[in-house]
Amino acid sequence: MTMSGAAARDWPLTSAIPEMGAYVHAPATVRWQVRETLRAWEIPGVSDSAELVASELVSNSVAALADPDTVDAEHPAGLPRMAGDSVATIAVRLRSDGHLLLIEVWDPADGKPERRDAGPDDESGRGLVIVEALSERFGCDPHEAGGKVTWCLLRAGAGPVP
Ligand SMILES: Nc1ncnc2c1ncn2[C@@H]1O[C@H](COP(=O)(O)OP(=O)(O)OP(=O)(O)O)[C@@H](O)[C@H]1O
Ligand SMILES: [Mg+2]
Repeated sequence: MTMSGAAARDWPLTSAIPEMGAYVHAPATVRWQVRETLRAWEIPGVSDSAELVASELVSNSVAALADPDTVDAEHPAGLPRMAGDSVATIAVRLRSDGHLLLIEVWDPADGKPERRDAGPDDESGRGLVIVEALSERFGCDPHEAGGKVTWCLLRAGAGPVP
């Protein structure tokens, strides 16, 4: 299944992180899985950037899926909105050929990533600035089965990318 417009390359390494509820814990879970996957693929050098980028993209998906009516003292960021009987989910996929790493984050939320011009006093609006700064390419495409995929390409190793 093609998740993003960046998939035209041949990706011998693919790791799908199973769909998970769009709870506030999702970014931490994904960071952990990204680190361990890159360790297993023996490209740990990109790990810090990959964890940060994945975390920002997943945080955005979680925020976009939060139901404001559920905000309370226990859930200051709210809970994921419902999709039928289930909470809304997100999914992440990592792909690599040893030279580049593709991070894809799927979510069913309305809207799309739009870089904001955060001023010095703004507390938010910097996530996508960081993602763009760390990635070779960054984009968002509708997914064939619904929802959208926000993706970015990172350099996974030193030297030119073939
Ligand atoms: N997956 C998404 N679905 C819908 N809208 C999104 C998504 N990702 C980002 N956006 C939109 O793009 C805006 C900019 O995202 P960005 O990550 O740069 O800032 P932020 O999330 O508002 O703040 P910060 O990341 O600094 O906490 C968001 O405020 C949101 O409106
Ligand atoms: Mg953000």
